Amino acid sequence: MGTFVLYAVCAFAAIGGFCFGYDIGVISGVLTMEDFQITMVGRDYLNSMQTAVITGLLLAGCFVGSLLAGPSAEYFSRKITIIISSFVFVVGAAIQTAANGYDMMIAGRFVAGLGVGALSMIVPLYQSELAPKEIRGRLIALQQLMITIGIMVAFWIGAGTQHITGPSSWRIPLGIQMAPGVVLFFGTFFLPYSPRWLLSKGRNAEALSVLAKLHSAGDESNPLVVAEYEEIIAQIELERAVAVGSYLELFQGKLCRRMILGITIQIFQQFTGMNSIMYYAPTIFKQAGIADTSATLIASGVNGVVNVLATIPAVLYLDRLGRRFVMMSGAAIMGTAMILCGAVMGGTGVVITDKATGDKSVDMSGNTSASYFCIVMIYIFVSGFAYSWGPVGWVYPAEIYPLSVRAKGTSITTAANWLMNFVISLICPVMLVKITWGTYIFFGCCCALMATVVFFFFPETKGKSLEEMESVFSGSILCHRQKYNNPTPEFDSVHDDEKKEIA
Ligand code: BGC
Repeated sequence: MGTFVLYAVCAFAAIGGFCFGYDIGVISGVLTMEDFQITMVGRDYLNSMQTAVITGLLLAGCFVGSLLAGPSAEYFSRKITIIISSFVFVVGAAIQTAANGYDMMIAGRFVAGLGVGALSMIVPLYQSELAPKEIRGRLIALQQLMITIGIMVAFWIGAGTQHITGPSSWRIPLGIQMAPGVVLFFGTFFLPYSPRWLLSKGRNAEALSVLAKLHSAGDESNPLVVAEYEEIIAQIELERAVAVGSYLELFQGKLCRRMILGITIQIFQQFTGMNSIMYYAPTIFKQAGIADTSATLIASGVNGVVNVLATIPAVLYLDRLGRRFVMMSGAAIMGTAMILCGAVMGGTGVVITDKATGDKSVDMSGNTSASYFCIVMIYIFVSGFAYSWGPVGWVYPAEIYPLSVRAKGTSITTAANWLMNFVISLICPVMLVKITWGTYIFFGCCCALMATVVFFFFPETKGKSLEEMESVFSGSILCHRQKYNNPTPEFDSVHDDEKKEIA
């Protein structure tokens, strides 16, 4: 299912995910480089406020960028929004690379954040509108795969340039991020417009031609293409009657349920605790008993590799296993790993309190096997996230809204993700020094809650066309009793008939 062109277009758009991951991953290494610190603040260390501002302004920019991308996607199109976002990203990356001091650096981080935030919202939305329902999960998961590759590449480039003395140590890793942004900017001019956006603007002939190019090697009379084309038109007619004008209306009537689920999934994705590991991996591995700095770095680097490898099953199997199973099993694996890690750390480590600051840390140096156990648990946790909540966090919101509000809806859910990302980046370092191993127990409990909430409230969306979501979300809000093999028989039978005709 799906043509080479379709895969190529979706994989190309996923470069937006690479920019996202790279920008997140690059900063932790750069912050520790001496020449960077001297150039930024004139001395060889950054205080915690400066570190937090440099890290956090990207996230603030992402929050704003994802909200701005909504109206842009509606008026200028999904495609033009990718072009604008990648341009903004490149400008932000250039400012960071050329920064001659702290102010310029934080301005660059914010501008790059605007681009990353907008890309994180628009890329999955664009992919969802190009994809046939059978492989939509897989195509959107490509962006998550690229996020993880971006994080990993940034980490290893940073580790490689650590040894260079002078400004190249940090200007090289910051400068490299311009390359994918430039490629995305120019390449997107050659990508098609979203057929659903074209139809919403009455550009029907172009839409049919794009659907045919993507799904049937250009054959506009292919019955599946014609059926999809007609289904989208029928849905647009239907939605015209109940058009939503303001953002507030998204939270009223029938749409409210989908808004709550979309926002919840994004908040949950952050409260798995994944970014506590992504941002503070060196500290965490140190707490788990790796004392040597270079060993901590290697452990963090391996973590990035595990993250990439464990995302591959999502690309391969998300559409077969379904969103619900993947989310529940992922939450169960992550929760178990976090709770075991916290319990073993608490049970075997010695909590040490710094008399001057009151900060606590766990000393596990006396028990090597417990320390290895915790490190393995962290890797299991990361794998659990990578195949489940990482991709599904982006897939689900991009597929549940009606066309008329899809851009508005996903811009709000994406903004929720960045806001929580920011919250986690602020609370995590405090939790690590105040409740130490309790941090893992906390996130473990969050994961248990997530599995339960998904079980009761999240309907399955695999295999349903974007136009069929209306019926998926019109049943009871409690969905644990639904039969997911065939939750909307009326639609399936329509498609089965079509399939028979084609055969
Ligand atoms: C999340 C990021 C996270 C990354 C890790 C993404 O899906 O949104 O916050 O850092 O996955 O792979």
